[in-house]
Amino acid sequence: MAEAKIIDGKAFAAGLRARVAEGVAALKGSHGVTPGLAVVLVGEDPASQVYVRSKEKALADLGMNSFDHHMPADLGEAELLALIDRLNADPAVHGILVQLPLPRHIDTARVLARIVPEKDADGFHVVNAGLLATGGAGAIVPCTPLGSLLLLRDTLGSDLKGKRALVLGRSNIVGKPMAQLLLQQDCTVTVAHSRTQDLPGECRRADILVAAVGRPEMVRGDWIKPGAVVIDVGINRIPHPTEPGKTRLVGDVAYDEAVKVAGAITPVPGGVGPMTIACLMLNTLAAACRAAG
Ligand code: GUN
Repeated sequence: MAEAKIIDGKAFAAGLRARVAEGVAALKGSHGVTPGLAVVLVGEDPASQVYVRSKEKALADLGMNSFDHHMPADLGEAELLALIDRLNADPAVHGILVQLPLPRHIDTARVLARIVPEKDADGFHVVNAGLLATGGAGAIVPCTPLGSLLLLRDTLGSDLKGKRALVLGRSNIVGKPMAQLLLQQDCTVTVAHSRTQDLPGECRRADILVAAVGRPEMVRGDWIKPGAVVIDVGINRIPHPTEPGKTRLVGDVAYDEAVKVAGAITPVPGGVGPMTIACLMLNTLAAACRAAG
């Protein structure tokens, strides 16, 4: 069988970012409004610092304002809630992103609930999750599932209808919203997780497999139905197999095996990752457009 089509998330995201930049310029021209995203980072988690820096760079590249709030790891929850209250009230801030994970002394749910839903650029607020689960109208959709869906639609078009989709992972950030989005596309959706019996068997039935478990190369080639579309959300850093002291990025799918079986697959890096940031830009622009009326 021929090797899978490689789904080029990097190229798709570049096109999406270019369209967002056009929207930003149009909003400036028509309403004199520059979309702005507040990025809140608490502590010095190295991975979070990398993500936050790339979000801030993307904002600048697209002509949007970035309001950076890099806070010490010992910031109290009350101070963080007070910062969110200020950002909620600031008309120049159209979106608020609180980078996760937060330090353990802070109640993440309480913090996310404090963001006004209209400014919840990540789509993590229970109001947005509820809107998505009840039909989608008006919901701000979490960026990684949204980006994954855009890649799936680009690959399969209207062929999503009636397909068997398996979402591996049940997080609030990816798995659950991904399942809701696929349901909206008329897929038959299964959500599998660490306690699922016969995970390989469940995967093998799927025409669409979205892996979001954070376990390096867990999904093997023989778990994949021949011709299936595989979206690998995982970004795992593992020791380099041949160069001591170095690391390398791998997904949740054993790519070299899967590429021989799947019909199409996202690489890691260069698949879903760039789509997440592009969708964050899109969500911020959309929030600014709604605020501008
Ligand atoms: N941490 C891991 N993924 C995400 C994300 O999409 N948004 C935020 N805010 N934090 C994260």
